[in-house]
Amino acid sequence: MPKIIREYNKLPSNIRSELPDLNDLTGKEWSQLSRSINTYNGPIAEKRRLHGAAFPLSLADHFIKIYTHKGDWVLDPFMGVGTTGDVAEILDRNFVGFEISRKFFQIARKGIDPADARYFEYAQKPNSAKFERKLFNESCLNLKERIAPETINLTLTSPPYGHLLNNIAQSFAAYTYSKNIYKNKGRKLASAYTNKPEDFGNQSLEAYCASIDRVMGQLYIATAPSGYNVWVVRDYREMTGHLPYINLHSQIIKLAQKNNWVLSDIVVWDQTRQRHLVKLGGKRSRRFYFNIGHSFILSFRKNIPGEKFRNAF
Ligand SMILES: C[S@@+](CC[C@H](N)C(=O)[O-])C[C@H]1O[C@@H](n2cnc3c(N)ncnc32)[C@H](O)[C@@H]1O
Repeated sequence: MPKIIREYNKLPSNIRSELPDLNDLTGKEWSQLSRSINTYNGPIAEKRRLHGAAFPLSLADHFIKIYTHKGDWVLDPFMGVGTTGDVAEILDRNFVGFEISRKFFQIARKGIDPADARYFEYAQKPNSAKFERKLFNESCLNLKERIAPETINLTLTSPPYGHLLNNIAQSFAAYTYSKNIYKNKGRKLASAYTNKPEDFGNQSLEAYCASIDRVMGQLYIATAPSGYNVWVVRDYREMTGHLPYINLHSQIIKLAQKNNWVLSDIVVWDQTRQRHLVKLGGKRSRRFYFNIGHSFILSFRKNIPGEKFRNAF
């Protein structure tokens, strides 16, 4: 038996027996959902088109099913138009969300888009009222005032990717978008979310990292032992700042680990089919750039007291 399992088994039985099961999956579903490279399909409902950087419902469905069961609490500190919250409701989980933009908050508040409801064959059930949904139109840095310690089972979120959006007009992303299959489907090219200084997307990289550090600390306090914290992030380039590669996902991992989160998994979200390949770089400049066609889904876990899982580095 691996040492790590032996250590888990040595935990006092009162601690182990108090813990509910992680999820409601059957063995077959468990293995099917454990692929480490995935594409996420499904409809791009009107509300997510309006945002421009919302993730697919099927992504939220995947991670909520793995890391929670019915009645658990799911949190999204950067809720956007509320994809995580909509799927939480469909799957009978409670939800708390923070969104700094008034416009996106109001869209999130409208709830599940009819196109999404059809995709999930979900009809608003009379009993769904028994699951709570708390939405705040304010910075997630207030979450310590809004959420009691150790009450959240899963955070599933996607933060602004540094200050990428403020530089997008000059960036490769704009060029790639001109060839994008979404272009004719009414999906807008994402631009800065708000002009507020508390919007992480408006902060310098240094300030951005300091803000992420604070959120990671607050999330740790809000999360129940054995709870998970899942971040969808993409690396990017900022050629105007002479930065050919911003290794954002590694930075997020470091900040999470600094706040005691244990890195548990990295899943690659293959987005190649959503992006046309374009030629980046040139022979004269002797530079070749790959089209960044993937995001990283970083999964962190909070230890149960007495557990010995730790980060390797
Ligand atoms: C990548 S988007 C998230 C999209 C979301 N996953 C969805 O599917 O709609 C990041 C969001 O974080 C919001 N945001 C930025 N700074 C914030 C802050 N300090 N507190 C709360 N939300 C913030 C932005 O307005 C933006 O909507």
